[in-house]
Amino acid sequence: MDKTAIRSKIFELIEEYFAKEEKEFIPGKTLVRYAGSVYDHKEINAMIHSLLSGWLGLGKEGEAFEKEFAEFVGAKYSLLANSGSSANLLAIAALTSWKFPNRLKKGDEVIVAASAFPSTINPIIQNGLTPVFIDVDSETYNIRPEDLEKALSKKTRLIVVCHNLGNPNEMDTIMVFADKYKLFVFEDNCDALGSMYDGKKTGSFGILASESFYPAHHITTGGEGGAVIINDDFRLYRIVQSFRDWGRSCWCGASGGPRNGVCGYRFQFKVNGFPYDHKYIFEHIGYNLKPVEAQAAMGRVQLKRLPKFIEARKRNFKTYAEFFKKYEKFFILPKALPKSDPCWFAFLLTIKDDAPFDRLAITNFLEQHSIQTRPSFSGNILRQPAYKNITYKKVGSLENSDRIFEKTFFIGVYPGLTEKHLEYVMSVFDTFLSKY
Ligand SMILES: Cc1ncc(COP(=O)(O)O)c(C=O)c1O
Repeated sequence: MDKTAIRSKIFELIEEYFAKEEKEFIPGKTLVRYAGSVYDHKEINAMIHSLLSGWLGLGKEGEAFEKEFAEFVGAKYSLLANSGSSANLLAIAALTSWKFPNRLKKGDEVIVAASAFPSTINPIIQNGLTPVFIDVDSETYNIRPEDLEKALSKKTRLIVVCHNLGNPNEMDTIMVFADKYKLFVFEDNCDALGSMYDGKKTGSFGILASESFYPAHHITTGGEGGAVIINDDFRLYRIVQSFRDWGRSCWCGASGGPRNGVCGYRFQFKVNGFPYDHKYIFEHIGYNLKPVEAQAAMGRVQLKRLPKFIEARKRNFKTYAEFFKKYEKFFILPKALPKSDPCWFAFLLTIKDDAPFDRLAITNFLEQHSIQTRPSFSGNILRQPAYKNITYKKVGSLENSDRIFEKTFFIGVYPGLTEKHLEYVMSVFDTFLSKY
């Protein structure tokens, strides 16, 4: 067989392998995951195709994904990263760049929700900025715009808005507030790909936004992945890219890649008056947070599936929302704002203060019945060990974030769940709750 025939054979076999996959659901035995990726031979073959092309680092597929992804979100640009956490780090670092006018400086304050995912907050601390924690609403799990005024000081420069578990924040009010006080807005959209607020995709409001393609999220680029969304001019795009690519100045792309040498000026740059190859001029104290080309190839196939994924997440969420109405005496149920159209990451449940059971009891019961649960990320992050000695400010008592720390958990709504999974999960809840 020649190489072309071998290649075709590989693709055929992968397709055959996926066609044979065991899919039967056995209640109580099959794990009902809180999240998971959904893909088949199309994604794997796209990755293999990319690997066999002889180019491993970001290249044509990466560029195509970044363009298609920005179009989907309705943003100007996107840049791939190796995780959502990396995307968050890049976004905050970019706003501190000496090349960014009106940049953020050490000691500047950043308003952020206290109940969060850790790496939404970490880059604030890692960049020498001061987090100002505000509480979240007990039903939307998002910031309450009325708290923004209380958190404001002369040092406030940025609001970090996380669309928690896929639920859009009150973006119109937040953007008006940010405009009034000349603050930047960064959206952590890692949980919320496909969510809309007032007819506009989340991730397209702030100057920057982030996305995670970890398999638990709405699409995946393999085991890890993420993107920075840039809703600003090309200069900010370049700054994010520089931080991502070791801090370098050159934007043409790697040697041998499709953009290698496109600027045509590679040898016309100087450092301190001395001619220097632009490829190795470094203008930021950067990182290397790039993914690889095969991940972009998978991401492009996942993007095509995204509309169906969004439908499935909404459908699963709706089934649970209707089911849990009868248990409202036990749980605070998740709520979306009137202008929101969320593409949920999961279904959140907060146990009411007067409920006759606690989180440990119910989550243990569910896990024993092969139903995965998770707490709502950090809960009040100030109660997590890593944050004991940080410098911060806070507004009010953060009582809802404390309640989330103690009483909230979530179950999955991801597209891999079928009606059978959902029926089983609801029957296990019935068994547990009918005792009370
Ligand atoms: C809101 C939020 N931000 C950031 C992240 C980090 O994403 P990653 O796991 O890709 O680093 C997550 C991960 O679940 C998240 O939920």
